[in-house]
This record gives sequence, C-alpha cells and structure tokens, in this order.
Amino acid sequence: VKSLEGKHFMSIDKLSNDELDGLLQLAHHFKEVYAEKGPHLPKPLHGHSMSMIFQKRSTRTRVSTETGMALLGGHALFLGPSDIQLGVNESMKDTALVLSRFNSLVLARVHGHKDVVELAEYSQVPIINALSDLHHPLQTLADLMALQQRFGMDLSGKTVAWVGDGNNVLHDLMLGSVKMGMNVQIATPNGFEPDAEILAITKTLAEENGVSVMTTTIADDAVKGADVVVTDTWVSMGQEEEYAQRMKEFDGYQVNSELMAKANDGAVFLHCLPRHPEEVTDEVFYSDASLVFPEAENRMWTVMAVMAAQLGRVE
Ligand code: CP
Ligand code: NVA
Repeated sequence: VKSLEGKHFMSIDKLSNDELDGLLQLAHHFKEVYAEKGPHLPKPLHGHSMSMIFQKRSTRTRVSTETGMALLGGHALFLGPSDIQLGVNESMKDTALVLSRFNSLVLARVHGHKDVVELAEYSQVPIINALSDLHHPLQTLADLMALQQRFGMDLSGKTVAWVGDGNNVLHDLMLGSVKMGMNVQIATPNGFEPDAEILAITKTLAEENGVSVMTTTIADDAVKGADVVVTDTWVSMGQEEEYAQRMKEFDGYQVNSELMAKANDGAVFLHCLPRHPEEVTDEVFYSDASLVFPEAENRMWTVMAVMAAQLGRVE
C-alpha cells in the first residue's frame, strides 16, 4: 500500500488489486495489534489531523473514523452541515484550499459525487470519500474484511448477490468483489439498476479478473449459487420524499429466510447499516449467517488502514 501515499481515496476502481489487498491486510493487522495492546497502540499518526466534512448524517463513518484516528494518535475534527461556511458562504474550492493548510487529510460525505471530486481537485492533501450519491468505498473495505474473517483471506471463486436498490453501496461492492475474484449477481427492480457507467467498468474489471457479472430483476435468480447475500436501505439519504413510491417498487425484494435458503449452504448476509425492516427481516438480520455487526466494527480497522496508507505510515 506504499503507492497510496499522498493519494486520494475516491472509489474502489481507482485502487489496483494489490492496493486493495494491501489495505485489507493492514486493516487485519490493526485489529490484531489493537486486540493485543489495547489503546496502547503505536501512534503512527501522532501530530496529524483530519477535517471531516459531513453534509449528511452518519453514525458508523463518523464514530469509526474519529475513534480510529484517536487510536493512531492523530486528531479528527467533525464538521457538520451547520458548523462551517461551506455551502452557505464558501465554495468547495476555497474550503479545499484552506483546509489543506491545516490538516494532513480531509474526509468528506457529500450529496453529489462531483462535490468530492472538486474537493480532491483543489485539495493539497489526500481526500477520503466518506459517501457520495455514487460511491461508498470505505464500506466496501469493511465488507470485504468481514468476508475474509468468515471465509479466509482468499475470496476468489465466491459469488456475491445483491438484492435491492442499485445504489452507491452496491457500486463499490461490485467493483471490489470482482477485484477480489468474486462473481457478482445483482437483482434490482426495473428503473433501479446500478449506474450504467460504473456497471461497464465493473464488467471490464470482471473480465480482467476472470469472473462474471449478472444483472436481473428476479431476486431468486440473483441469490442462486451465492455465498454472500447483500442489501441496503431502499431509501437512501436525500431520497426521503420517494419513500412511499419506493416501498411499492421494491415490494418482493425483501431478504428473508426463504430467499436466504435459495443461496448456497453457509451463505452469509451483509448490510452496511442503518437498516430498516422492509429490506431484511429480523430473522435474517439477527441470524448466525448475518455478519452485519463485525462488518460495522470493521469500518474502524479499514479506515485506519486508509489514513495510515495515505500518510505513508504503514511500516
Ligand atoms: N454504513 C454507514 O456508512 O453508516 P453511517 O451512515 O452511519 O456512517
Ligand atoms: N445507501 C445509503 C447508505 C448509507 C450508509 C445512503 O446513501 O443513504
């Protein structure tokens, strides 16, 4: 992961397979070291700081990053939508130029992906995309780490099924899955397919990695032969007004025990959280097959790996 020093972390397709592998290995390493030494970890990011711009709500991203930065010895500043001038009085460009003068890193959760792209364009320090309407790459690292904890470090040959909305979380998960040598099977209702451009990139990467990508509208077909079943909310942040319409459109796409029974024996369930009961039943969500809480915990180990790699502190 040495090659990530000084680089932005925007979406999974921007990482080489080796960089993705390296980040995951570093995340496992941080988890091991922490288990052994508790808070008396080495402090490789001592003296470093990171501004965290949040234009949308967050539980996991905020807490995992702020806590992870503290464990590494650095300081993270939480900047909510009404804490800074951005968006009211000040542009993304000026914000990027100013924060770069204070901080070693800037993390941002934004509405439009172009906002985090603009931040990266003008920032003099590495940017971390902490969710946009198109991408959520930090989540994918945590998901892949959870799969490695269950299945072993080599995930190649497994099949990942996504059932639900073709959204930001799916985009990076499908990119990351094919990079790890996994097949991807996606079921969405008509009109809720993944972004066409990101799907095309995923298909090219799948070919390079010798795996397949399939899309359908039929949930049963997506989970057939799957080792991993994944979903997310049907109503992402910013789509609240579409709630009633989406409930109708996604009817029949709930992950429940009957659907899980159609996947491979030993198949696991993932969900990035926050979760609503309509997309997954309690029975599945709290079952032994569900990795949702280790997955949430991994948000911390993985973002620690990203920050350390960007600052070149990976030895
Ligand atoms: N999974 C995730 O990103 O959660 P938060 O929105 O709570 O950060
Ligand atoms: N797709 C969801 C993920 C939340 C972590 C959203 O964008 O709101």
